[in-house]
Amino acid sequence: MISLSDAQNLDSGDPLAHLRGAFCLPAGVVYLNGNSLGLLSAPAEAAIGAMIDQWKAKAGGAWMDPADAWFDYTERVSARLAAFVGAERGEVIATGSTTSNLHQLLATFYQPTPARPAILIDSLAFPSDAHAVQSHLRLHRLEPETHLRKVASRDGATIDEAAIEAMLQAPGVSMAILPAVVYGSGQLIDMPRITRAAKQAGVMLGWDCSHAIGAVPLNFGKLDCDFAFWCHYKYMNAGPGAVAGMYVNQRHLTANPGLAGWFGMDKSRQFLMQHTFEPAAGAGRFQVGSPHLLSLAALRGSLSLFDRSDIASLRSKSLALTEFLFRLIDERLAKHGAQIVTPREPHRRGGHVSIAHENAEQICKAIAAEGIVTDFRRPGIIRITPAAMYSTFEECFRAVEAIDVALQK
Ligand SMILES: Cc1ncc(COP(=O)(O)O)c(C=O)c1O
Repeated sequence: MISLSDAQNLDSGDPLAHLRGAFCLPAGVVYLNGNSLGLLSAPAEAAIGAMIDQWKAKAGGAWMDPADAWFDYTERVSARLAAFVGAERGEVIATGSTTSNLHQLLATFYQPTPARPAILIDSLAFPSDAHAVQSHLRLHRLEPETHLRKVASRDGATIDEAAIEAMLQAPGVSMAILPAVVYGSGQLIDMPRITRAAKQAGVMLGWDCSHAIGAVPLNFGKLDCDFAFWCHYKYMNAGPGAVAGMYVNQRHLTANPGLAGWFGMDKSRQFLMQHTFEPAAGAGRFQVGSPHLLSLAALRGSLSLFDRSDIASLRSKSLALTEFLFRLIDERLAKHGAQIVTPREPHRRGGHVSIAHENAEQICKAIAAEGIVTDFRRPGIIRITPAAMYSTFEECFRAVEAIDVALQK
């Protein structure tokens, strides 16, 4: 049996252990819910504090503050973010929310033709993605019942890449919106394989990277997909409702935004106050209104923590933590009927482990009362997320031990 001291030994050999000290860990809590909301870090808090000080001291003058102007703050944070996701500087912008960015991308790039009217998603897609896609079909007077196609899941938890390929090749598909990591099960989709298949089929492809960014290395330059969008409040730790992000491949950066607004203007022309829209050269053109500065500050602070590590090391620690969870679950929970629905292969899983159990909701509540925070997702999934930046093997051990006790009651 795996013991507490085994977990503690793994923690003492962890080369990233120093990062944990940068986070505000809720007192008396084992927090394994970083794929829902990541924790506040000291650099994020300091960056928000610096912005509040600037607001206090300079008020509106801060927009053009030569020391740290708010006017192009987004572009400066986005340049750092672009490097983090392996994109060119002008291909990434931190703006909007995940869903509003998807709306912008659909408004810009979804151009149905009689031969190709359909949009492809998957049957496990996050509801907001499905809502956004359906609304754009309706804006084009197309019925979602007919023109929204869904790749079915055979097991209710994962999506077969071969099934995605088959649906990409079927006639009539114009665009596909797919998750890099499936939010329920934590399955990591083979992004290069599906990106190649979409290209061959002539389908424009956008990835929802909300559950991937910060957990799985992303390299859009190599991947060469059409676009991607994501949130920053999970593994990026930029806070609740944080400003989101999007990537648009440079080959599409001539497109006029479907939803235009003055912060999408060429910066040197924005204050001419003209009615003619002259878009910024890069993905900055997809901004609509004034930036969410306080959450951009949090993102800037959070990104600085990724400079103190690297995504490859974070990914190896994340895989070690989730592997440890698999072993613990097999040993202690399988006998109570708890079933792991996350793919076991490292290249097929993201940052969280999901277990299915008929009493998942009650179990989550019972362990929460003991200070173990995980996440329940309907119909019967417990998601356990050890975030590589701050979670420990001991916390994984304690969580599984608590579930074991709850299941014995
Ligand atoms: C995979 C995925 N896509 C989209 C969303 C919607 O994000 P937002 O509320 O930031 O628009 C979420 C939210 O958790 C998500 O997990």
